[in-house]
Amino acid sequence: MARAKTIYFCQECGYESSKWMGQCPGCRQWNTFVEETVERKAGASADKQIRAVRPVALADIEMKREERFTSGFPELDRVLGGGIVPASLVLVGGDPGIGKSTLLLQVCQKLSGQRISVLYISGEESLTQIKLRAQRIGEFTDSLTLLCETNLETIDGVIRREKPQAVIIDSIQTMYSENISSSPGSVSQVREATGAFMQLAKVLGITIFIVGHVTKEGVVAGPRVLEHMVDTVLYFEGDRHAAYRILRGVKNRFGSTNEIGVFEMRERGLAEVTNPSEYMLSGKPKDASGSVVACAMEGTRPILLEVQALVCRSNFGFPRRTADGTDTNRVNLLMAVLEKRLNLRLSECDAYVNIAGGIKMNEPALDLGIVLAILSSYKECCVDEKTICFGEVGLSGEVRAVNMAKQRILEARKLGFTTCILPKVSLDAQMQADGIHLIGVENVQQAVRKIL
Ligand code: TYD
Ligand code: MG
Repeated sequence: MARAKTIYFCQECGYESSKWMGQCPGCRQWNTFVEETVERKAGASADKQIRAVRPVALADIEMKREERFTSGFPELDRVLGGGIVPASLVLVGGDPGIGKSTLLLQVCQKLSGQRISVLYISGEESLTQIKLRAQRIGEFTDSLTLLCETNLETIDGVIRREKPQAVIIDSIQTMYSENISSSPGSVSQVREATGAFMQLAKVLGITIFIVGHVTKEGVVAGPRVLEHMVDTVLYFEGDRHAAYRILRGVKNRFGSTNEIGVFEMRERGLAEVTNPSEYMLSGKPKDASGSVVACAMEGTRPILLEVQALVCRSNFGFPRRTADGTDTNRVNLLMAVLEKRLNLRLSECDAYVNIAGGIKMNEPALDLGIVLAILSSYKECCVDEKTICFGEVGLSGEVRAVNMAKQRILEARKLGFTTCILPKVSLDAQMQADGIHLIGVENVQQAVRKIL
């Protein structure tokens, strides 16, 4: 007999407790417990099962060659670690309206184009709404089937019967199981549904993509356990008002997580951006002070960015400092370094720093770019537009080494830059590249002398 029971769950780590607690003993977070009613089946004897199950020696495990298949989007394949892995569960998180449903519907289109059977299950939109979206995106083949359903047991039955090769669940927060009395989107429902999809993916060998909404704090709504359960977590991010979107791997059991895919939202769905640097630098002003091109790495990919700074006299005793796309504290720190090491009176100035294009970057290699942009604006002089820079700036004003200097230089050369300012320690003799003049600097003073 099933009996109803109230349990308290930690929303961060999924810790279960029979009573409410202020602090979770599992993850030490405060105020994370929520009450939920769950029904537990009376304990069935597991004896029979235990006798049937045997551990296996590592050497006895048969290796099947991992056969990935392409999603049709090279950018998505890269983030997934080289294509879609069969029998995997992929979570795609992101803010509302960022384009998760669009991306996955386009994946459906590409997969169905390769004659891979795909089932798109939506708990959020009606069939007509999906059709409208599909019409904007383009042609589909019959390998794609659609279903509007939120009942987990029904979905489970349909997937087992139809056995599609790939399934899209849009979204996990709308799914509910009859066995659990709490409402859809609650911790226990989300956990139950994810568990069921994991089971389906592994047993039937199908790939399931689930969409998860993101809360204001930027984590997938519902428990953190969701992220622990799935094989791969991807975040789709970007400014809703800007056209570009970045798909970032946060967790990946089948590949590295430091890859990104860049997309652009167009009239007719998402398009891949194969050269993000060119895209980020489009629209860079000519002969403007406070604008410097820097190079940051996203995974193994160098991306050139325009760092903009505006420094003006403060009208109040307390200067305003804002940073868009990078860390405000880092900007404050770098301004303090400039004030002290170059004797500039920056404490009397407001400063606004922006990474153009709405992209967010926190890499220390951007430091030199930020410093030079601030100086360029402060001194009202322009940095040569064919110059790029990268390097970490330390508290004594020293320019420190960064990794992957060579890739950054090659990317700059590819886009036609002729001068590159970089940390002296990162510059070794064999790195001389034709067509680009490399200037190694030891500290901020040298960098300033070289280009301003
Ligand atoms: P959607 O995929 O519905 O977002 P999510 O599922 O993440 O909530 O994205 C919708 C936004 O994208 C919507 O505001 C309209 C825009 N859009 C386009 O600009 N072009 C298109 O071709 C499509 C389909 C959507
Ligand atoms: Mg959606």
